[in-house]
Amino acid sequence: MPADIADPTLAESGRSRMAWAVRAMPILRGIAARFAEERPFDGVRVAACLHVTPETGVFLRALQAGGAQVRLCASNPLATQDDTAAALVCDSGISVFARRGIDAVGYAGHIAAALAMAPQLIFDDGCDLVTALHTTRPDLLAGIRGGCEETGTGVLWLRHMARDGRLRFPMVAVNENETMRVVDNRYGTGQSTIDGLLRATNLLLAGRTVVVAGYGPCGRGVASRAKGMGASVVVTEVDPTRALEAALEGYRVLPMAAAAAVGDVFLTATGSRAVLRAEHFAQMKDGAIFGNVGHFDVEIDVPALSRLSSSRPAPVRPHLQEYRLDDGRRLLLLTQGRLVNLAAAEGHPAAVMDLSFAGQALAAEWLLRVADSLTPDVYGIPADLDAEIAGLVLDAMGIHIDRAVDGALDSTLPDQRPREAG
Ligand code: ADE
Repeated sequence: MPADIADPTLAESGRSRMAWAVRAMPILRGIAARFAEERPFDGVRVAACLHVTPETGVFLRALQAGGAQVRLCASNPLATQDDTAAALVCDSGISVFARRGIDAVGYAGHIAAALAMAPQLIFDDGCDLVTALHTTRPDLLAGIRGGCEETGTGVLWLRHMARDGRLRFPMVAVNENETMRVVDNRYGTGQSTIDGLLRATNLLLAGRTVVVAGYGPCGRGVASRAKGMGASVVVTEVDPTRALEAALEGYRVLPMAAAAAVGDVFLTATGSRAVLRAEHFAQMKDGAIFGNVGHFDVEIDVPALSRLSSSRPAPVRPHLQEYRLDDGRRLLLLTQGRLVNLAAAEGHPAAVMDLSFAGQALAAEWLLRVADSLTPDVYGIPADLDAEIAGLVLDAMGIHIDRAVDGALDSTLPDQRPREAG
């Protein structure tokens, strides 16, 4: 079986971490059991470019149970967990092409290797498979029935392609599920980012000023978790409505030009380029720490930071590099500007990924059913599927909710409101 992983002897560790993850993933366990009976992916060739974590492993095994042949490459070289890669290759017969920390050439080679199976269905997290298919393997486009995209950044890119008429097959924007937006982006990113920050720094957050750039679903989660740990949170935004929302939530809202001088910790969650750049580094306090939450490592202008320092950055802890600036200040960069939650911690907890990957599994099943009637474009999953996912999560949590009585909602129509007496 073709594969390229760091070390097959790590399989035992990967096996036990996957066994731990699956205990927190009841929805995917149920879906895998149904897939094993119904075989909705029978013989379908699936290429996935996802973070190589135990949770991803559980997801891919569910697709396999449904009959899929699966290849996996990494969607970020620093997020790859080599033991998971080993367990998937050794135990599950999944072709994995991923090594933690691999360089850009090796990374592109792994994407090419995943595509070499001529996939019919793809799962992307950041659009790397879609991009490679359209640029380097257009010969494979005709065989693709569709795919799913996991991140907001990837969906933005897909929409650009669709708008310009360049997208050649249907893609489901799984990230736009209501369930995903709430649970994955807010609670998953919120908790795992703080987890990564603390593992990398061992910082006491209480009493610190944490600047969160971007108040989208992810920034909202990071801000609320930092606040919950006693930090004083400053939010920066470019969108007036989001800025207003942050202000009404009780955060200080400042432009980054002002926030740069007051922050102890900076976390970027915008999806935009150069959110922290030379003019901000120039104002930061000695000892300021900063990291990125967004999918791509473009939010912190690391080359500009390097230019402010004549010495090489010093690795002060495993995921923390210190830049000693020529004016004597020390600025500390987390995980080389790559996403903190996956590079310094383990990404979202398995219970969150249970929901996210359940969304992917059901979306893919739906997509294969309707693919022949879809034109190349970006689709949301049907609302009833979204509600089904939320219902499965509530069931798994043992939470019961009310059902509206027949006609209850009609009373909100204007002509049905109770009339006032007199
Ligand atoms: N994205 C965020 N957290 C993740 C995880 N634990 N596994 C796979 N993808 C992720």
